Amino acid sequence: MKPKVLVTRRIFPEVVERLRQHFDVEYNEADRLWSPEALAERLREKEGVFLTPTERVDVALLDACPRLKVVANMAVGYNHIDVAACTARGVLCTNTPDVLTETTADFGFALVLAAARRVTEAERFLREGRWQTWSVHMMMGREVHGTTLGILGMGRIGQAIARRAALGFGMRVLYHNRSRLPEAVEAQYGARYVDKDTLLREADHVIVVVPYSPQTHHLIGAAELALMRPTATLTNIARGGVVDDAALAQALRDGRIAAAALDVFEGEPRVHPHLLQVPNVVLTPHIASATETTRRAMAELAADNLIAGLGFGPRAGRPPTPLNPEVLSSTAAGDGRAGS
Ligand code: DGY
Repeated sequence: MKPKVLVTRRIFPEVVERLRQHFDVEYNEADRLWSPEALAERLREKEGVFLTPTERVDVALLDACPRLKVVANMAVGYNHIDVAACTARGVLCTNTPDVLTETTADFGFALVLAAARRVTEAERFLREGRWQTWSVHMMMGREVHGTTLGILGMGRIGQAIARRAALGFGMRVLYHNRSRLPEAVEAQYGARYVDKDTLLREADHVIVVVPYSPQTHHLIGAAELALMRPTATLTNIARGGVVDDAALAQALRDGRIAAAALDVFEGEPRVHPHLLQVPNVVLTPHIASATETTRRAMAELAADNLIAGLGFGPRAGRPPTPLNPEVLSSTAAGDGRAGS
């Protein structure tokens, strides 16, 4: 009897086939979004789940699914998973870091450029037939090269953005992070560690790349926006809720900052209605890691984690990217289930 696992969203057929070599797979090929109750119902008898940020793993779900041993998350962010509750129940959680770093940094930088150079605003202007002639003052934006980038959150993605900024665009890099990076790493990007307020005051462009947690909820709100330069831009590729979207819409309306770009939203896929009304914000639907190469790599890594976490494959018992490795000894992997 193969262990039962659930794949909660449509992924890639070859990844599902690989899972089928080891597991009895229930697959949401129709890609319907399930309610928490429907998810719990489908997961009740399963030992593993391959899921994405659209599914929440909380105490209620864990209580309903006592056979669950592995939660393999196809994303680097995991604020939709109660990892502490999983750990308390011996449920292994995994995520997909590294494979999306460069792609996400590319997109973050694209948004900085798009906000500063008014790319989507200019395209709307053209499509609406409002372009009558070339003119000196039309759609003037803000410089990016040679200016100062402030990076809030200097993990893997933050550092990849710093590299683009310093080496590609000749920017001065300021950063703020829970902990300061080693001097050798700072030196690679000429990055200067500053407190959050200094970063907000001095940066021409601010980009937010911190994980969401109660500590980072509304890390950027009205008070922080008030510290920024009126010519500055703000980009959020982290998670909705890290920026107070209502306060941001108000700041954009009032011209307290020049422009913004958001790939993530509080309560997404809903977008704050005031954001939809302001012209100087670039809005994209949480696609920073969405290239085919990267999404495939994420899916393969999540599958590697599920297979190894349930004690199969060449890495049985040693999933590549565990979030709570302390539970490994109590999962099926630790039972010595034969790898195949
Ligand atoms: C991540 O990996 O956390 C992304 O935000 C999901 O696309």
